[in-house]
Amino acid sequence: MANYSFARSWQSQSISTRIMRLWLGITWIYGGWNKATDAGFLNPASPHYIGAQLQGYLATSPIHIILQKMIEHATQLGWLVMISEFAIGIAVLAGLALELAALGGFGMSVVLWLSATWAVKPYFLGSDTVYAVMWLALFFGVRQSYRGGRMAAIIPNLKDRREVMRLGAVAVAAIAASLAGSKFRAKNPTPEAGAAVATLAELPIGGTKNFQAADGSPAVVFRTAAGVFAYSRVCTHQGCIVNYDAGAHLLACPCHGAQFDPTKDGKVVAGPAPTPIAKIKVAIKGDKVVQI
Ligand code: FES
Repeated sequence: MANYSFARSWQSQSISTRIMRLWLGITWIYGGWNKATDAGFLNPASPHYIGAQLQGYLATSPIHIILQKMIEHATQLGWLVMISEFAIGIAVLAGLALELAALGGFGMSVVLWLSATWAVKPYFLGSDTVYAVMWLALFFGVRQSYRGGRMAAIIPNLKDRREVMRLGAVAVAAIAASLAGSKFRAKNPTPEAGAAVATLAELPIGGTKNFQAADGSPAVVFRTAAGVFAYSRVCTHQGCIVNYDAGAHLLACPCHGAQFDPTKDGKVVAGPAPTPIAKIKVAIKGDKVVQI
């Protein structure tokens, strides 16, 4: 990497390696940005807090003992994951420490597979296995691109000042992007507990209405003859947003098919979700439904 050239890092590689590099680099940066701009990812009160996600994987993951230990340090882990995703994505696009970045992406995908998508059946519906294979293919594709010439060391040469500076620039860019994301979080003021989520007029008996919960996450309220009740719409599997299927009377997740029964405390009735969907406390006050 001593004679680093951005253009050469692309030109020297096969088309298939370039395609994987482009896709994986952009996807990892997008993954980091998604977390950085998510107001709930580092907020322990949110249903999509990283600690809550880890908690949700415990029931099905073969590495649940490790995940259990990580929960205590969930916020620090969240920062680490976010910065690592940015750093790997930037390094892959820039062509810096490419093999190391590919191994990092491979490691992340394997951990995600063993935690988040282990319970997805059949396995090909979970994306982490595909990403693990793509990262491994990128690693070997890059190794092979050093045709007959020098085989770059996987671990960067930390005695080379310019190499250290370039890697330092990647780290600074990753941290800056993680911090910049917070500026784009929850632009709309989130309703406070006690704020109306619906009027009785817009929620007749038998009706449902989507609303934004006090922590900013999406939720849905139901009204029956017996009263009102509400659920988070954040799937307990991997955080996709569930929708109410009025025909089946179930909350259904579009990502991997989890279904929850709102008439049975949000119980899982199908799919890989490990725990019931979270309840949100609501009550009728006057002519309104409020979150309490
Ligand atoms: S996120 Fe996987 S089933 Fe909902």
